[in-house]
Amino acid sequence: MAKELNINQRLDKESKYKDLLPQIKSLIEGEENIIANLANICAALKQTFNFFWVGFYLVHNNELVLGPFQGSIACTRIPFGKGVCGTSWKEQKTILVEDVDTFPGHIACSSLSRSEIVVPVFNKNNVVTMVLDIDSDKFADFDETDQKYLEQLAFIIQNNLNV
Ligand code: SME
Repeated sequence: MAKELNINQRLDKESKYKDLLPQIKSLIEGEENIIANLANICAALKQTFNFFWVGFYLVHNNELVLGPFQGSIACTRIPFGKGVCGTSWKEQKTILVEDVDTFPGHIACSSLSRSEIVVPVFNKNNVVTMVLDIDSDKFADFDETDQKYLEQLAFIIQNNLNV
């Protein structure tokens, strides 16, 4: 059953996250297919914040493989510890990059990307099984507010999906 997002675009960023997260939770609760749910999460984030690029990379055979996303075509595989995504996976923590050109080993899927946030998603055994990657075409576009709520989103995914 299709649903509609209800987000007031005039709200500030934090208020939008507060509106969005419960709606994502109810969106994925009734569906068990992981790809369907991750695809809808990307669409919901894109619709709410108009991110330049938003998507998931899933751990598969000891590398990250491109999953559902919204944005331009992107690199399909990222090794453990490489780029911002592989570093987030290796260090099992969120990585905020204000200027991608200063991040050693940054993997440029788009030459327009300027800043980035990558949040690891854990399974119920606390193993990283995917990362959520969001790119902006503006410098320093992400901050602690994004980190706080995207980590809450990762927790919702952990608790609601068999990842
Ligand atoms: N910049 C990422 C690669 C993925 S794209 O941004 C979509 C990285 O350095 O891991």
